[in-house]
Amino acid sequence: MDTAGRIQVVPSGAACGATVRDVDLRRLDDADVAAIRAAWLEHKVLAFPDQQLSDSDLEAFTLRFGPFGDDPFFAAIDGHPHIAAIRRRADETSSLFAENWHADWSFQEFPPDGTCLYGKVIPPLGGDTLYTNQQAALAAMPAELRAKIDGKVGIHSARGGYAPDGQYGDDDADRSMQIRPNDSAYATQLHPLIRTHPETGAETLYSTIGYIIGIDGMADDDARLLLGEMYAWQTRDEFQYQHRWEPNMLVMWDNRCVLHRATSGYDGYDRLLHRTTIGYRAIA
Ligand code: SIN
Repeated sequence: MDTAGRIQVVPSGAACGATVRDVDLRRLDDADVAAIRAAWLEHKVLAFPDQQLSDSDLEAFTLRFGPFGDDPFFAAIDGHPHIAAIRRRADETSSLFAENWHADWSFQEFPPDGTCLYGKVIPPLGGDTLYTNQQAALAAMPAELRAKIDGKVGIHSARGGYAPDGQYGDDDADRSMQIRPNDSAYATQLHPLIRTHPETGAETLYSTIGYIIGIDGMADDDARLLLGEMYAWQTRDEFQYQHRWEPNMLVMWDNRCVLHRATSGYDGYDRLLHRTTIGYRAIA
């Protein structure tokens, strides 16, 4: 256990993740924010149990860590243009939202630094969120694989999910979550497969196959093979943290150095979380 000022940070014991106690996220002073930021950079995923946050509180918390990010394919909840509801009904038959590993919105020119998710209705079983530490994955990567990806630039796109012919597109049915697919999902954006975290200076793998649809200057078949090899490494069990939700728990993660994905296992139960995006902030 580590105490940074008044807050208490308990590491998960897995490759990333920590629980933060003794803090009320509605009443943070600058020292609290600095301590949370330091813990966030160290552990990459922070969980804050037993918070009583209104939607306005969630927005205010988010803004302590950066500007709001741009959420191009979500409809916001009423009265809160920066909050999306991650929602699934007990009897819903649509494919699970966000079940593939990803870094949020990595197809943007300036992808978001982080994401906040606040648990409102949490099923008694299933629905965990998985995280994988991409700094650790890169550090442990075999030299032979690293040599293959070093200097390579990924082509990112939202088309697989959010284009009209994507997973959440025109043929999607029985989905309670308000997703808004559109043609802008076909756009592409380049980012190196290995990036330096702007705040910690650590090298990290960035994003994965799915949002990465190719490698700049490489034939599609070769790129698919290499991205598949990278995926098999970056999602290995030893880099993962499995997060179990509670109602009134807020989790914030660092998209610059973790991947995450949703899991199923709660058929017959509703699940609802409110999500904000911590936008890109240039580091001087
Ligand atoms: C997300 O990727 O925003 C959702 C994760 C989850 O539902 O567990």
